[in-house]
Amino acid sequence: MSSFEFPGEYYEIIRRSFRDLAAETDFLASYVPDGGRVLDLGCGTGTTLRELGARGFSCVGVDQSARFIDYARRAGGEGVAYVHERAERFTSEEGFHLVYSLFMTLNQLPRTELRQVLRKTAEQLLPGGHVVLEFGHLLNFVESYQQHTVAHHRGDGVLITRLARQSVNPHAATWRNEETLLVRDADGQVSLYDNFFDQAVLTGPEVRELLADAGLAVTAEYGGFRKEPAPGHGRGPLVIVASRAGEGSA
Ligand SMILES: C[S@@+](CC[C@H](N)C(=O)[O-])C[C@H]1O[C@@H](n2cnc3c(N)ncnc32)[C@H](O)[C@@H]1O
Repeated sequence: MSSFEFPGEYYEIIRRSFRDLAAETDFLASYVPDGGRVLDLGCGTGTTLRELGARGFSCVGVDQSARFIDYARRAGGEGVAYVHERAERFTSEEGFHLVYSLFMTLNQLPRTELRQVLRKTAEQLLPGGHVVLEFGHLLNFVESYQQHTVAHHRGDGVLITRLARQSVNPHAATWRNEETLLVRDADGQVSLYDNFFDQAVLTGPEVRELLADAGLAVTAEYGGFRKEPAPGHGRGPLVIVASRAGEGSA
């Protein structure tokens, strides 16, 4: 479950605090042939897709947030189409050279349906295609657990204060993040938004098993989009690259 129903321009500001857009775009682009087709599962406000579209790829983004998809459509982007849909319901007649999911979105897909989503992803790959999944693994959650956090994000004359509360449901192995966004706009107006999301606490072995079950073979693992070594333990995301089993590595 997640909401992400707040104005996309504020998400874009928050995102900049966490992400290296140039690195993730270069990384993803290296897995797509010229003019190739790309699918982003949980594309948010379309930030990365717009960059990929500008490089001549044909892009599709799927997200469950109506407000983020509305923002993404208004922001446009060469060769980018957006679908307001949950990833687990999305189907396409056309295949893709690259299917990716960034910024722990994989952890937000319903655990019960993750297996199906990855199987469908494998079916949507064109010959020689790749999957790039960035997910938060077990220790990432354990090490960064704090019951309450306050963070400030600034950009475009806007100040966003994010007051977040985290809780763990050990029976479901999920982590809930509930947050209030206090936004002061460039003209001094203040507004409040609530946001929440649940994340499945995934482990590396669990994700590798799900990929194998979907007929996908892991070809590389990194700790980030600058090809940092995969974290043996501790903080940091895990970026997994996979292709259809039997097709070999990139
Ligand atoms: C942390 S944001 C990341 C957005 C984007 N991947 C990025 O890198 O900026 C998580 C996104 O996942 C979307 N999301 C969560 N569950 C989803 C689902 N089941 N299907 C599609 N989108 C989902 C949310 O709406 C939100 O936009």
